[in-house]
Amino acid sequence: MTPPQALPRKSFGSDNHARAHPAVLSALGSASRGDVTAYGDDPWTERVAAQLRQEFGASGVFFVFNGTAANVLGVSLMLRPYEAVICAESAHLNVDECGAAERIIGCKLLTVPTDDGKLTPELVAARLAGRGDEHRAQPRAVAITQATEVGTCYTVAELRRLGDFCHDSDLLVFLDGARLANAAAFLGCSLSDLAGSVDVLSFGGTKNGAVGAEALVVMNPALTASVPFQRKQQMQLASKMRYLAAQFGALLEDQLWLQNARHANAMAQRLAAGVSGIPGVGLRYPVESNGVFATLDPALIEPLASEWNFYVWDASENVVRWMAAFDTSEEDVDAFVAAIRAAALKLIS
Ligand SMILES: Cc1ncc(COP(=O)(O)O)c(C=O)c1O
Repeated sequence: MTPPQALPRKSFGSDNHARAHPAVLSALGSASRGDVTAYGDDPWTERVAAQLRQEFGASGVFFVFNGTAANVLGVSLMLRPYEAVICAESAHLNVDECGAAERIIGCKLLTVPTDDGKLTPELVAARLAGRGDEHRAQPRAVAITQATEVGTCYTVAELRRLGDFCHDSDLLVFLDGARLANAAAFLGCSLSDLAGSVDVLSFGGTKNGAVGAEALVVMNPALTASVPFQRKQQMQLASKMRYLAAQFGALLEDQLWLQNARHANAMAQRLAAGVSGIPGVGLRYPVESNGVFATLDPALIEPLASEWNFYVWDASENVVRWMAAFDTSEEDVDAFVAAIRAAALKLIS
């Protein structure tokens, strides 16, 4: 039988389009020896969860299958049935999870429009009206994303300011870290620096070279005890947990997670630099992780999209999203830049 074929050229559509890192595949092979007890009572899970607890300074670490599950599980630890989550309008939790939080947790999302995907104490404060009013869902948690859905990063000082404000206001903080590695690489800080101001966060493996694994990292010890039960109810307790843990084991070895993220970020920077000055192409957001958000002359989108894989992020403003991954090469970027330049020149000739 003919094997299925991959896309003809490197995709800039998503870091999810990339293959798994060879070290992750090899770690899966190494973990695949003999029998071990199921459901996380195995040496891989014990070792890798301990490593991650140490790396983050966390109270608990729990592996799950994907990012949506990590978000829903994380937020579910924080809310009573009448409580709500404040998040950016652009949050993955709000836009791209098919209402999972609303369905599984049964909570209300109080969304806030933002310029750059980031919440501030002022934006959160503006959503607190109605506290104490029994007719209103009560804000109890704030969910942020790092790096954000539009590729921007909160600085550590911004995280601290927001975290302090939330905790002083009796709000818990959840951080969606599907691209936490890219943020750490951009900011040049540790994972524990990024986690220090939040109660619970996710640490994404999938976009960073894993086959499919995310870690839920619980910083607030008061929230740890219920995780095993909630994770099982939410169908995220892997029986063959060793394979989730082994993927993170590979990413932690020699800080492969950081090397991968640094490389993907560098390719995004190369792409942004390459398109600067091309007529009809502008940057929509600062490039602070592995994504480039560009505003294109609308006549450029169709010819480029017919040859290259990327997303139109906001059709009304002609914004496209170009993502780099751990395995995007300089040649991939240069070929894409050349195609963009050629399409732009054709347009004005
Ligand atoms: C910011 C963010 N959070 C979470 C996710 C996780 O999604 P999934 O459930 O597809 O792993 C993604 C994936 O695109 C994302 O971009």
